[in-house]
Amino acid sequence: MSGEIQALGYVGLEVSDLAAWRSFACDQLGLQWADRADGTADLRIDDYATRIRLIEGPRDDLAYAGWEVRDAATLVHLADRLRTLGVAVENAQPDAHDRRVHGLIRFRDPEGSVHEAFYGPLQKTNIPFVSPLGTAFKTGRQGLGHIVLNCRDKPAMMDFFQDMLGFRLSDHIRTEVVPGRPMEISFLRCNGRHHSLALAPVPVPKKIVHLMVETMSIDDVGRAMHRCADAGTHFSFTLGRHSNDNMLSFYPLTPSGFDFEYGWGGLEVDDESWHVLTHDSNSAWGHIYQRPPRPAKVEEGA
Ligand SMILES: [Fe+2]
Repeated sequence: MSGEIQALGYVGLEVSDLAAWRSFACDQLGLQWADRADGTADLRIDDYATRIRLIEGPRDDLAYAGWEVRDAATLVHLADRLRTLGVAVENAQPDAHDRRVHGLIRFRDPEGSVHEAFYGPLQKTNIPFVSPLGTAFKTGRQGLGHIVLNCRDKPAMMDFFQDMLGFRLSDHIRTEVVPGRPMEISFLRCNGRHHSLALAPVPVPKKIVHLMVETMSIDDVGRAMHRCADAGTHFSFTLGRHSNDNMLSFYPLTPSGFDFEYGWGGLEVDDESWHVLTHDSNSAWGHIYQRPPRPAKVEEGA
């Protein structure tokens, strides 16, 4: 049986400017910063000791995505099943403490992105999550949020996540997210959240297209949007409401050059009654694409 994965538990991001990320994530978006002794940092949005791990490095891209399973037996079952299907699965137990989990395995998708599956995430109820801006995030059984991965061979990626990892297809959007560039984006779920993963063949060099977190209040989205605007943060897409998961969101550009989606009001899917849908628009309204800012020109002779 497939379908061991229950939620997106955490992501690791390799970022070149930790200080800029701290300002962006904490002062603008309301996430909580927790320093680590090794110079990395955790971002928290709930009881989990870590949800977003920031590792200093030049890539400015996804380092790994961590997928949660129920227990030790399920993790063993997943590892065995993937190996039977020909996937190279690494026993990553030596890194379990670092990831703040009890049990850990690691494997790669067909495009080379690193994925981890784990059980037993550390909960820090003794040091409760406190947003520096009073923001509350929707997590629980729906996990951290969602990620969108770039792909060159989308059919191979769809097979991997659906047939091998047991993700369920929610819908497709066939549209021009960026004017003049038609594409089909496909949305996959592993719990009630409409999608924890989407696959998008977009012409960008990074593996991650965006990372989404969801707030408990529409006002938190509005407040964050104004704080980002005040800080001069570029919006890759303006405020809008997505056609498929109903998420009301905006897309501030992270200091690493990929997008963050900051949303509220996402659709919860009922597996029994859901059927696969198709859309020809990314959004019911809004989400207007904004060209990225040009880097400042260096004066000749300067
Ligand atoms: Fe999204």
